[in-house]
Amino acid sequence: MKNLSNKGAQAYTPLTLKLYDWWVLGISNRYAWRCPTEDVLLNHFKKHLGRKHLDIGVGTGFYLSQLDHARDITLMDLNTHSLDAARTRIGPQRIDSCVEHDVFNEFPQALHNSFDSVSLFYLLHCLPGLPEDKARAIKNAAAALNANGTLYGATILGDSAGHNGFGRKLMKVYNKIGIFSNRQDNALHLKQALEDCFEEVSVSTVGVVATFSASKKRV
Ligand SMILES: C[S@@+](CC[C@H](N)C(=O)[O-])C[C@H]1O[C@@H](n2cnc3c(N)ncnc32)[C@H](O)[C@@H]1O
Repeated sequence: MKNLSNKGAQAYTPLTLKLYDWWVLGISNRYAWRCPTEDVLLNHFKKHLGRKHLDIGVGTGFYLSQLDHARDITLMDLNTHSLDAARTRIGPQRIDSCVEHDVFNEFPQALHNSFDSVSLFYLLHCLPGLPEDKARAIKNAAAALNANGTLYGATILGDSAGHNGFGRKLMKVYNKIGIFSNRQDNALHLKQALEDCFEEVSVSTVGVVATFSASKKRV
């Protein structure tokens, strides 16, 4: 693995990836973030999935592993452990390519205007910087979509979202060690960043998680 300057990616080792589904998708989503994985997030993933799909910030590959019909999948992550885990979990025969890449950097030209759908699930709250810095990641992801494509995802909002006690504890620790950088993230900034790139934007909040989708990319 290359030197990872981003702590939001460094945290994903073979060990933490083994615990990820239990801790994040099981316990934290239900009790800290109040946004159940299966009922809300998996349904959101399924609803917007297109034929040719790019998943950015892949973790363990949980969502695509649940959607057997998805083929033509490209995985992108800064961390090769995540790419390896997701590829194995989803099934290598369903994966077109794995791209080790920082979402903050412009994507390789071969990925531009290529995909029917691009997903950013639980990536934005891991990215360092202020909400306006994260807009760069959204802009790069938008460039990978074809003209009819949809960008969609979910992200844990910051301090103003109304976290419960469990959530506040996790927010404090994760932001201190750099796994999260989301204290100032809010739904308005997210909507603005999406509207800068797309004509049609939808942002909803479940618990302290914003789910979003955006289509009709601006040219
Ligand atoms: C919290 S996990 C999300 C996993 C999965 N999408 C989910 O929702 O369960 C965040 C993932 O984003 C990756 N990541 C973090 N920073 C990144 C960056 N700058 N560019 C690309 N991937 C990044 C991490 O390596 C990790 O695999």
